[in-house]
Amino acid sequence: MKFLAKLNEIKSRHPDKKISIIIGFPVEHSLSPAMHNNAYKDLKIYDEYAYDKLEVKEDELREFFVDLKHFNIINGCIIGLTCTMPHKINIIQYLDSLGDEAKVIKAVNSVFFDGQKYIGYNTDWYGIERPFKERGIHINNKKVAIIGAGGASRACVYAFKKNDCLISIFNRTIEKAKVLAEEFGCEAFELKDNDDKIGENDIIVNMTNVGMGDLVGKSPVKKEVLKKNHIIFECIYKPSETKLAEYAKEVGAEVILGYEMLLYQGVKQFEIYTSKIPRVEAMKEVL
Ligand code: ATR
Repeated sequence: MKFLAKLNEIKSRHPDKKISIIIGFPVEHSLSPAMHNNAYKDLKIYDEYAYDKLEVKEDELREFFVDLKHFNIINGCIIGLTCTMPHKINIIQYLDSLGDEAKVIKAVNSVFFDGQKYIGYNTDWYGIERPFKERGIHINNKKVAIIGAGGASRACVYAFKKNDCLISIFNRTIEKAKVLAEEFGCEAFELKDNDDKIGENDIIVNMTNVGMGDLVGKSPVKKEVLKKNHIIFECIYKPSETKLAEYAKEVGAEVILGYEMLLYQGVKQFEIYTSKIPRVEAMKEVL
């Protein structure tokens, strides 16, 4: 029942609106509410929609969902639920159905409540694919090194597999890389001592925490393996420029920064929650 009071508080902050919330832990510094609210204002639908946040820890997800369902039977106003760390995989058991991409990726970052059912979608893969398209870079058949084998990496493997890329997954825990690689038909390697192998690829993607939090200033690969013709994709947006991005710029490589993934997964999510297309600039200007 703990979350009922919190959901009521959120409702009272946004009376008579269709509300989306981002849940996770930590969630305090999430940029998603600002990004979506700015786009609602830009489309002049802010009197109809609002986007808020709510801290839900890993072991609280079940209680949260029970309370949410209860709340929505009476109120029905929470229409969107954005899941960030650590809920992207665990949330699936509470949903009524999944969109096509989420079914394959087996991770959900966006839940839409249509008034009856909770439907899970994954838009992270779109946040990975679109920055390449924006630059006119064709990724078909490219060799890609994905560093990390967690939830974000699943969407990443899907995005590159969809474009017929040759994918190698590098992870600190090799067993996790092997499971993911087997599922999607890729190769798996241990991250440690494999920098040269990572350097043999066209695109190098960081999907680990290395570079943020306690690991600020650290890079998952040595600078020496990065070359001018590499494309580096970073998923971390805080700090805005990681050590890996800094190295990549120093060697003259193309860099796609973490905020771009955040932006475009949000663009697709906005479409799911509102059935409207946001202006990308309106979402981007608050990042
Ligand atoms: P997300 O949903 O963001 O992908 P996750 O599922 O917790 O989060 O995955 C985190 C990834 O970062 C994992 O690949 C993890 O490696 P392990 O599978 O070995 O745990 C990786 N990671 C986290 N800290 C790391 C570190 N210090 N060095 C290397 N990899 C690290």
